Amino acid sequence: MIIKYFVVGALALTIVSGCSDESSSNTAGSTKVDQSASTVADVSKTKIETKTIEVGKDYHSFGNPESIEVNHLTLDLTVDFSKKVLLGTAQLDFQKIDPKAKQLVLDTRDLTINDVTANGQPLNFKLAKADSFLGAALTIDIPANVDKVVISYQTSPEASGVQWLTPEQTAGKKHPFLFTQAQAIHARSFIPLQDSPQVRMTYDATIRTPKDLIAVMSASNDPDTERDGIYEFSMPQPIPSYLIALAVGDLYFKSMGERTGVYSEKGILDAAASEFSDTESMLIATEKAFGPYSWDRYDLLILPPSFPFGGMENPRLSFITPTVIAGDKSLVSLIAHELAHSWSGNTVTNATWRDLWLNEGFTTYLTYRIMQMIYGDERFEMEAVLGRQDLQADVDSLAASDQIMAIDLRGRDPDVVFSNIPYEKGALFLRELENKVGRENFDKFLLGYFETFAFQSITTEQFVNYLEQTLLKDHSTKLSKQRIQQWIFEPGIPTDAPVPESDAFSVVDQARNAWLSGAIRATEIDSDKWVVHQWLYFLNNMPEKLSQEQLADLDKAFSLTHSKNNEIAHSWLLISVNNWYQPAFKRLHQYLTSIGRNKLVKPLYKALSQTPEGKVMAQKAFNEAKEAYHPLTVKANEGFVE
Ligand code: BES
Ligand code: ZN
Repeated sequence: MIIKYFVVGALALTIVSGCSDESSSNTAGSTKVDQSASTVADVSKTKIETKTIEVGKDYHSFGNPESIEVNHLTLDLTVDFSKKVLLGTAQLDFQKIDPKAKQLVLDTRDLTINDVTANGQPLNFKLAKADSFLGAALTIDIPANVDKVVISYQTSPEASGVQWLTPEQTAGKKHPFLFTQAQAIHARSFIPLQDSPQVRMTYDATIRTPKDLIAVMSASNDPDTERDGIYEFSMPQPIPSYLIALAVGDLYFKSMGERTGVYSEKGILDAAASEFSDTESMLIATEKAFGPYSWDRYDLLILPPSFPFGGMENPRLSFITPTVIAGDKSLVSLIAHELAHSWSGNTVTNATWRDLWLNEGFTTYLTYRIMQMIYGDERFEMEAVLGRQDLQADVDSLAASDQIMAIDLRGRDPDVVFSNIPYEKGALFLRELENKVGRENFDKFLLGYFETFAFQSITTEQFVNYLEQTLLKDHSTKLSKQRIQQWIFEPGIPTDAPVPESDAFSVVDQARNAWLSGAIRATEIDSDKWVVHQWLYFLNNMPEKLSQEQLADLDKAFSLTHSKNNEIAHSWLLISVNNWYQPAFKRLHQYLTSIGRNKLVKPLYKALSQTPEGKVMAQKAFNEAKEAYHPLTVKANEGFVE
């Protein structure tokens, strides 16, 4: 199947030739468009079999915001740790976009709906049969004068967006813990709502917990709140559903600055606060470069190690994996990343998951810039080179259609399509724009972009339009429309894309080469001053095959098997699996059973699954760890251990 993107006016079309039955069955009305309809209609009348992407249509939500749009949510939920359910009500306030609209359609997954009322009166509702990854549409009949409904419901213990941890699975071992992860399409597993990034709503919440625990949300949090088991929140700025987040546990707070602080279990609070002590400076620097921070406070919540991501940009309260607490701030670009989302993502939001690169590409670009402002050029350059290498690895391994930034996700589960493309290709594209027009001009452009689209959810095409009307117009000799189209709608990395370079890595290349040629032993490598990034570069660029002697030489010289840095340990363990270096396997087992961050465990499971012996090890670790893994980590790895 050949997939080609044609861009007409503001619209991108997927033209599919040689369509299989399966893909053509996805075709939903081939000429339906939201903008520039005439241009598109012309093209879709061509003889080629077309499968038009309706730009801006969210193929991952059943919601009907085009008819009735929810704009406020009031939650009242009780957290029942013994049953592993959230139970209570969600009131949805909405506006009829179509005055004749008679039904409100919401997304749900594995929810039990008890009843739906308006003004105390029951309303008719219907829960459709569940789709395998989209969940089930909930359709509510709306009488003429009604503008809010109250849904009484409860979640399932298997809710895809909620992880329930037993006391043993926490650091303190005494209290249970709960956290949610809504992005991309998991909010629907704990709240019935229009689970689409193009629907923005404000929210209020009352969360009822066991008395000795604290609840925090992606909203106003009071660090001095009394532990009384009833917590009130309000998020006065309209946010998309994927940014609604809740965590409950034995949490403590430590301030890191005027507007920044950290929540975590007691045992790691001090370590977290000192690891992330530059958060306030990052916030100030980012505001200075890219415009005011719109979200009041910026706090971090450090989760138990089963958190499936590195971080999640829940507004006012980023959720952070503890695996980046390395003791030397070497992995804090994660904080820069989640903070940067306050601009790119939370203020200007992708309209659909096809447009994810607008969130992640801009954020990755800003991350590099923040790291440069706080830690200087050398670190900036090293991180850019490592990012470029991650991108190359994905370009080398992904199908061409998955290398496209504005990716066609119709019929696909966004969790499964996760890659570096929206991140690093997006960032490299922006870096090219910056290089061409100069940093000062590009920063002005970014400032204007964040201001123009603040609190809106936008499509790739809206961005391209804006780019054409601003930067492209002002710098028409330096930029071309065609080149922009290539970056966004075609696979691969355009030729002559920027090539990040780092002098700090040249010495590493020299050392690696000398060692590989046998000219020097590992102990002779002059690595005393190497930083974590240099170690990562050293390891990640080893040839695929190393001998047992070589591995033992490295391990003996640098104790890599026992590295406390989780990224270095990851790189080393991956090399160990690929070369069957058994002295590292005990550590490998311990690593896989103590960390649930998917980016760190998935490549190891994948590598193990390549051989029958490896698979046995993978099965052992997976079965032991499964209980404590997040549903997303289970879903991403269970295929490797079958
Ligand atoms: N928003 C993402 C996490 C995400 C993306 C969840 C898409 C679900 C769907 C978050 O900001 C992120 O990018 N996390 C990365 C951070 C890294 C790139 C610094 C992660 O978790 O690895
Ligand atoms: Zn991100």
